[in-house]
Amino acid sequence: MLVDDHGRTATDLRVSLTDRCNLRCSYCMPPEGLDWLAKPELLTDEEIVRLVRVGVERLGITEVRFTGGEPLLRRGLPGIVAAAAALEPRPEISVTSNGIGLRRLAAPLAEAGLDRVNISLDTLDPGTFKTLTHRDRHADVLAGLAAAHDAGLRPVKVNAVLMRGVNEHEAVPLLRFCLDHGYRLRFIEQMPLDAQHGWTRTGMITAEEILGRLAEAFTLTPAPGAERGSAPAETFVLDGGPARVGVIGSVTRPFCGACDRVRLTADGQIRNCLFATEESDLRAALRGGATDDDLAARWRAAVRTKRAGHGIDDPGFLQPVRPMSAIGG
Ligand code: 5AD
Ligand code: SF4
Repeated sequence: MLVDDHGRTATDLRVSLTDRCNLRCSYCMPPEGLDWLAKPELLTDEEIVRLVRVGVERLGITEVRFTGGEPLLRRGLPGIVAAAAALEPRPEISVTSNGIGLRRLAAPLAEAGLDRVNISLDTLDPGTFKTLTHRDRHADVLAGLAAAHDAGLRPVKVNAVLMRGVNEHEAVPLLRFCLDHGYRLRFIEQMPLDAQHGWTRTGMITAEEILGRLAEAFTLTPAPGAERGSAPAETFVLDGGPARVGVIGSVTRPFCGACDRVRLTADGQIRNCLFATEESDLRAALRGGATDDDLAARWRAAVRTKRAGHGIDDPGFLQPVRPMSAIGG
């Protein structure tokens, strides 16, 4: 098992398949994009599958989430999903995507064994979408959401980040849209992970503000029995139910104490936290001829030193050098 010095066990593996993306969300990337990882630095499909297998067979990983950048840009994705689905014990398999490629890929991915998707949707307005992402692809995201739903990747989860002066007035409309379509919406506080280091605490729309806006249109009650557990979202029942909304207060209501995640970057580095300042190089070990046992031992050691919390409020907090798009959500 992947146990750390604070008694937590990592069972949820997030695998970034590429640092590239076809959007430029302002909370993530500058409009001109970034210096992408070079092809030889990226793990091959076979290397990814091997590491996922080691995680599942030897280290107690029960959930595998493929992220990016935008994971649907990786051509081998259906094959990687199928290989993960063939493992014993079969892990839960999900993808975090911006939705654009799902019109084409939702059905083949479901066929390959994908269980669920999380899709980012921050606005209902195509113009605001273009401002926020620097791309005119709003209609493609909506089509992707519908395709995921139709392919049975349910419940489709939607992630929304609210930004001051951009889309902060859309909390209620976004929620109504998701309720109407049977999608499960979660609002996420903006975290200091953008490559351009533009995050400020005052610019961030807090969980409290989000709940305040929602309370103007709905009666919110904490979901009964829905222990937050390792799930980062606090879930609220709307108007007596069954409708629900999630709020992820990553910054102001951290869930680090119950965190069960570990991350593998597209270039084969284990990160024990989104905000980790150190990584463990499994790619070098892998390419240097390491056995599955060696890989598992390195991976265990990498998780053991996971810090107790993200420390965003510590005076000495340093944003990780690697931006969100190269870590994976
Ligand atoms: N803060 C919060 N959420 C973010 N995401 C990307 N960057 C940030 C950030 N700085 C979200 C995306 C997507 C998931 C991968 O993480 O909206 O839903
Ligand atoms: Fe792409 Fe996701 Fe970053 Fe937006 S948040 S630019 S969709 S990687």
